[in-house]
Amino acid sequence: MNMIEIKVPATSANIGPGFDCLGIALNLYNKFYIEEIENGLIIEGCDPSFANEDNLVFTSMKKCFEKIGYRYNGIRIIIKADIPVSRGLGSSAACILGGVVAANELGGDVLSKEEILELATKIEGHPDNITPALFGGMTVSITENNKVYYDNIDIAKGIKFYTLIPNFKLSTEEARKILPDTVSHKDAVFNVGRTALMLTAMINGNFDLMKVGVKDRLHQEYRGTLIEDFNYILDECNKLNTYGVFLSGAGPTIIVAVQQEDDNILKAVKKKLEGLNSVWDLKELNVDYKGVSIIK
Ligand code: HSE
Repeated sequence: MNMIEIKVPATSANIGPGFDCLGIALNLYNKFYIEEIENGLIIEGCDPSFANEDNLVFTSMKKCFEKIGYRYNGIRIIIKADIPVSRGLGSSAACILGGVVAANELGGDVLSKEEILELATKIEGHPDNITPALFGGMTVSITENNKVYYDNIDIAKGIKFYTLIPNFKLSTEEARKILPDTVSHKDAVFNVGRTALMLTAMINGNFDLMKVGVKDRLHQEYRGTLIEDFNYILDECNKLNTYGVFLSGAGPTIIVAVQQEDDNILKAVKKKLEGLNSVWDLKELNVDYKGVSIIK
């Protein structure tokens, strides 16, 4: 039996005010090498505590096998993960998609991309990481009656992203638990307007509008209380000549959007991070336009 290689990009969900609906694929990847074996389950390349039946890649594969009615014998999974875990960069979405796409391949490639999107979204709970990881680029996606409605956003040229990844984790579960059950009409209006402005700014290349457009009142402020130095970093990076600073997904990673040609900001951002209690790894990431790929 041939081994299938699946490559899935990292993703940054929300992008400021677009809570649970916007996402962007970034050029940092998890690779999954998967084959059907005679029996049993072998998982390599991850912490031994995840090398069991509860592994997210494997449980996602099983859900796909159930859906397509495929009876497998045994499974071997090798994981090569560059996407850091519990940092708000879509590592769970990458594992889910890797599993679903691999199982669909092993089962004879029966699901359409939309069916893969729907199954993976059902497993993840929201579509904003899954959609860009599957299709690449920047996407808007929502669910209604279990159906995912999505579209691609054509970002104008001239922008790049610095990811500030701390050496501590924040689980999405914890970061969702801290959100209020209700928000004021004022805060809802604040976010609707900014989401719309930020999207048109990105499509039209009017990036200067992003600084105000990426502001959010639905999640960042609450989650910021769980992230050491969040407000300091946000304020200091906003003072620089950036296009905008926002939390990546549920955090704790912070993203700084900057002018494509500007290489001076990097040094300035690094300087702001010096001397903080936690270590923040600064990476320049670009948009991945390909999404999931299967290398046979
Ligand atoms: N939209 C999700 C959230 C992304 O912010 O909780 C994390 O999975």
